[in-house]
Formats: sequence, structure tokens, C-alpha cells
Amino acid sequence: MKIRQIMVVALGVVAAALAQAQPAWPSKPVALVVPFAAGGPTDVVARTFAASMTKTLGQSVVVENRLGAGGTVAAGAVAKAAPDGYTFFIHHNGMATSTALYRKLAYDPLADFEYVSQAVDVPMTLLARKDMPAANLQELLAYLKANESKVNLATAGLGAVSQLCGMLFQRAVGLKFTEVPFQGTAPAMNALLGGQVDLLCDQTTQTIPQIKAGNVKLYGVTTKSRIKSLPNAPTLTEQGLKDFEVVVWHGIYAPKGTPKPVIEKMNAAVRAALKDPDVVKRMDDLGAEIVPDAKLTPEGLQAWLKAEIDKWGPIIKAGGKFAD
Ligand code: MLT
Repeated sequence: MKIRQIMVVALGVVAAALAQAQPAWPSKPVALVVPFAAGGPTDVVARTFAASMTKTLGQSVVVENRLGAGGTVAAGAVAKAAPDGYTFFIHHNGMATSTALYRKLAYDPLADFEYVSQAVDVPMTLLARKDMPAANLQELLAYLKANESKVNLATAGLGAVSQLCGMLFQRAVGLKFTEVPFQGTAPAMNALLGGQVDLLCDQTTQTIPQIKAGNVKLYGVTTKSRIKSLPNAPTLTEQGLKDFEVVVWHGIYAPKGTPKPVIEKMNAAVRAALKDPDVVKRMDDLGAEIVPDAKLTPEGLQAWLKAEIDKWGPIIKAGGKFAD
């Protein structure tokens, strides 16, 4: 054997030995970054999945809340994190809508990530403070029209679905309210419960307990049809807001370059969570729907994200709302 061939064989042996010496992934806790406040809807979904994935992976999946700029601070941090299999990210529609809402982003959602899977779809609800003097949507619209300059709408900032839903609502009814941004809808909900803000459009994963307890007033759901967990709540569409539909989807991502075997194991852990009776029950109670199998692949998530960027870009730009 020539010297060069011997060296190639030797290097192969060393590489194989090194690979065997690597501890199996995961050998330490795995971070799941949430871009909004603890206790809010994205956090609820993340913690429900993290508990189940911890059982499957045999290592803790630890939720880390990184707040700011409607989810874009966390997305930028994850894009720059080491692709070593110990940082993952859960985000919703904001991963797509932020590309149209921000003139500059510190990351490219279609180039700087690996895609793991989608998880659940969540409806939204249009809520007002408990003492809002309106018994139904028509009365609410009359009140909002008469008090337009005084009405406050809570959101979780540009890139948040509460902001997207609020923006579409204002556009649909031809009114303009003062938007009050929070770092998640957990603090926004506290402000609504305290009566410091008037309106909040938020996900059922946070709102159902407050609706059922009678702590807030519900004026409609944002889905095409009524939802099982709030059967008496009319849709906004059936009350006259034509084509008003916002459904919140969730994707799980990792920094670009995260090894494929790790992505595959994480994908299997997400699929296992979707069959875990504790996850299924909690998601069902909170109005969330487990997505079909076709959306549970890395390719499925990537294609969905691209389609969502293409869908929301023109809609958002027509509203002319931007952040630098
Ligand atoms: C949250 O978890 O606070 C929400 O998902 C924020 C939002 O997008 O409205």
C-alpha cells in the first residue's frame, strides 16, 4: 500500500473511533427557546411538549424565554447559536410575518435554520375587558366606533400574532386604536384582566381558562368554523367580518448546521409527544389541534414557512406597518 493510501485508511479509522467516542445525543439538557413571556400561549405549548420530549429523549428539555421585538430577538439569537444539537426554537406565524413587518432582520428564516417539525394549530379569540359595555360583536363595534380615540388594543409587539390579528381586525372594521405592546400576551392578558387595556386578540391556549372563568368578554373566534372547545362562540366571519381567519401554527427549528441525526431524533420526539395522552388532552382542553402527518417533517415545515411568507407578505405590506 502506498503511504498516501495508508494515511487515508488510518484517518478513517481515527474518525470512526472519534465518532464512537462521542457521547450519544443528547448527553446534557436541551434548550427550547420561546420568544415570548413565560405563562403565555407559546410558552404553554412549549412546556407541554418539553415535558413529553424529556421522557422520550432521557434528558431535560428546558424552556428558555428570550423576549423582545415580537419574537425577532429570540430568532436572531437562535440563528447565531452553536449548531451542536443543544439549542432548539419554537415559534409561530411570526417566523413568516416578521419578514414583511421588519425592514431589517438579523436572520433569514429560510436560510439560517434547520427545520424539525410543526406541532399544533391554535385558534384565536377576540376579547375585551370584563366590564366592556357590549353584549355581542355588533354592540362592541358600535362602542368602538363611538370611543375610537380612547380604545387601547394590547399586543405582543410587531411579529406577534396578537398584533397581526389586532391589525386585521382594525382593518376589517375600518377603525384605528392605540396599540399597547407587551413582551408576550401573558402580561397583555394581565393588563386586560386589570382593565388597563380594552381589547386583546389572543390564542385559546391562554384564553380558554379566562373565558370559562368569566374574567374576560369573548366576541368571537378567528377560525372558519366554530371550535369544539368553545362551541357556543360564534366565528367572526359568521358575524359579518368576511374571510376573517387567523390560525396560529407552530414550528420547531434549530440553528443551521445542526447534525441531521439530531434533527431526526428531535423530530421523532415531537411525533411521540403528539401521541402522548397528556399532551393530547392538554392541547384538546386548550383548543389546540394536532397537525396532520404531512406537516410533521422537516421538509413539510420548510415548505409551509415559505408558503406563509408568500401569503402574508402582500397582506401586511398593504397595511403599511413596519419596524426598522
Ligand atoms: C405569546 O406567547 O405571548 C404569544 O404567542 C404572543 C403573540 O404572538 O401574540
